[in-house]
Amino acid sequence: MQTKILAPSSGWLELAKKYIEAGEVVAFHTETVYGLGANAFSDEAVQKIYALKGRPADNPLIVHVHRDYDITRLIDGEPPYAALLRSAFLPGPLTMVYPSKGKVSKYVSCGLDTLAIRVPSSPAAQAFLREADLPIAAPSANLSKHVSPVTARHVYDDFNGKIPLILDGGACNGGIESTVLDCTGEIPVILREGLVTREAVAAVAGDCGVYKMKEGERPKSPGMAYKHYSPRCKTAYFPRSRLDEAMACYEDEARSGSPCFLCESAVCALLRGFETLDLGGTPEEMARRLYLLLRKGEARATLLIGIEPSEHGGVMAGVLNRLHRAFGVET
Ligand code: TXA
Ligand code: MG
Repeated sequence: MQTKILAPSSGWLELAKKYIEAGEVVAFHTETVYGLGANAFSDEAVQKIYALKGRPADNPLIVHVHRDYDITRLIDGEPPYAALLRSAFLPGPLTMVYPSKGKVSKYVSCGLDTLAIRVPSSPAAQAFLREADLPIAAPSANLSKHVSPVTARHVYDDFNGKIPLILDGGACNGGIESTVLDCTGEIPVILREGLVTREAVAAVAGDCGVYKMKEGERPKSPGMAYKHYSPRCKTAYFPRSRLDEAMACYEDEARSGSPCFLCESAVCALLRGFETLDLGGTPEEMARRLYLLLRKGEARATLLIGIEPSEHGGVMAGVLNRLHRAFGVET
């Protein structure tokens, strides 16, 4: 199969709709990362997503809809705080988990009685979802465990020849996946941290919890149990206080391979003469660059050495979660 990458042009949406209606999988831009989408009503189409990604069968998918889609067709009621959150944050990088009406394919939620819904804000995503006018089940458009894609080229690198179409909306500005929020209880609970922070949710909903998996428990958001976002090269990770050791590790690798640091701007400035990838200075910058640089790092380095950033507030919760998982750091 030939994989076309199409930027906004006449006919691109009609072609995407044609593929979706035929039960094919189409990759599309969102403001967070690229998604790998299929008709959420079709068992066959949804199963194709799992097969393409090599995704475990117990890791549910998010359903994407356009801003005017009537979600009461899919969900079985919502608490008052959820309606407030929708008007405050949607369209945007917030996924809300609701009791499901069971209308979409059973493969979307993997046997859970809930459904995750997302209304992405990127104009390309909105245009695609409106044209399809179907709920689109979509995970991030990367092979399972690999780094999430933030350009059409990243999607192509993982799925060339396997999907018919990638809708190219440019680089993703958000850079890390949406916040996943459980809206089935008395207060909202964050299942996956992202660009919409706990503080921002609490300011609208009055309160907000963060889910922590207990030993031996089946995770509420199964995706969080898996190793994720890993670059395909060796990795090492150091706190800022052990920069000397990190440099020794670099020198060691440099004898036979090509090491590279991944760190915030302030630390890059201290590492003159070393290969570095600069994450930036603010949490938003680090979110936007993280996956881009992990993909660059794996292409150019034999060993990628991460240094713990000094920032910790707000969006950094999401950035640190992804960074630690990419480097296999226990938290
Ligand atoms: O930004 C994003 O959310 C991107 C773009 C494409 O929209 N999508 C994305 O999908 O990151 P994925 O499949 O890579 O991650 C979905 C996460 C997983 O951790 C999964 O376990 C969780 O959402 N999830 C999906 N349905 C759920 C449900 N019913 N209950 C709890 N967690 C759910
Ligand atoms: Mg993913």
